[in-house]
Amino acid sequence: MPKGNHAQQHNQSTDVLNATTELSLEDVKQELYNRHHPSLTFLDIEAHAKTIWKIRTLKQKHNVVMLGHNYMEPLVFGLSERDEQGDSLGLSMYAAKAEAPYLIFNGVPFMAETAKILSPDKTVLVADKTAGCSLADNFGAEDVKELKALYPGAPVMIYVNSYADAKAESDICCTSANAAHIAKSMPGDTLIFVPDIFFAQNLEEELKGEKTVVYPGKNNTARGAVCEVHERFTLADLLAVRESFEIPKGHPHRQLYAHWECRPNVLQEADFYGSTSQIMKDIAERVADNGLERAFVASECELTSNLAQEFPNVQFWTACSVRCSHMAKVSLSKIANILEAIDRNEELGEYEVTLPAEVIDKARSPIERMLEASV
Ligand code: 13P
Ligand code: SF4
Repeated sequence: MPKGNHAQQHNQSTDVLNATTELSLEDVKQELYNRHHPSLTFLDIEAHAKTIWKIRTLKQKHNVVMLGHNYMEPLVFGLSERDEQGDSLGLSMYAAKAEAPYLIFNGVPFMAETAKILSPDKTVLVADKTAGCSLADNFGAEDVKELKALYPGAPVMIYVNSYADAKAESDICCTSANAAHIAKSMPGDTLIFVPDIFFAQNLEEELKGEKTVVYPGKNNTARGAVCEVHERFTLADLLAVRESFEIPKGHPHRQLYAHWECRPNVLQEADFYGSTSQIMKDIAERVADNGLERAFVASECELTSNLAQEFPNVQFWTACSVRCSHMAKVSLSKIANILEAIDRNEELGEYEVTLPAEVIDKARSPIERMLEASV
């Protein structure tokens, strides 16, 4: 088995591979072994190296940009260049400036829709168009209209985890990386936040005294949604993690993280909360300051798998029963199918994200407003 040292070596060898014009299967295997990923055995590498080699070769040949959300399993996540990996906000911003005819979005379709809206001339492709999201799937344009009628004049801020038709009815979009900042920039003292009920309650707490946040289910019967993955973490779970994994509150070198989509009492218990990339950034900063020895992240479990590779000296505890079944639909073999279809110049309808021109036009303003307010 080829030998290497640590994660930094993986990054260097990935860069070398990405700069190479012709990849060999052996190069790809060597790079995978050099990752020393804690959950990647030689069985995984031997089983998947050929598919990864095929994907990388065709990606290069056809100048494909491949965006990878932080929830992708490590082998899929590693297909994207460093700057092509990230959270919803980072990937939307990257998509807006990406210069390539094909954009493969390794994430769920609502994310790829955002890329399509920002780059309507590009061919945006996803591995599995049936992958949903419990937030986006349970909320639509009619739900936005109902809330607007209930609170006339209040601006609607919509979480990016929604489909284009709902965005098209909203004033501004946000992600978990910029929600508080954007909410504060909105005119008036009342804001409608949709569709995530826990997120809205967390935002309400964050903006206490500054703004009134109204949302589905708050003194109304409008329909909202929660993330089926993050709702699984309860306060009791977090307290159990603190005790059994020995992460006492306020410990200088041990941290408990939570994503914004978690329940309010989970968020309040966490030492730090944020978007997937903000959690990664906080970990990176603590590691750089020599300050993090142990962490638990209340979010999708593959985020922790990717963190474990990036920060091999931090002990992570994972909850791998907490997976997003939608994100998990993105697999190496389905990505290879897209690239083979491109290579054979075949019809891409099975993978291509398309939207009516009028929806693109209407949904672009709330997304662009978000991007303007985020810089
Ligand atoms: P981020 O915006 O943090 O990437 O989160 C997206 C998501 O779907 C979280 O469940
Ligand atoms: Fe949607 Fe939750 Fe999956 Fe994120 S983790 S894509 S919010 S179901």
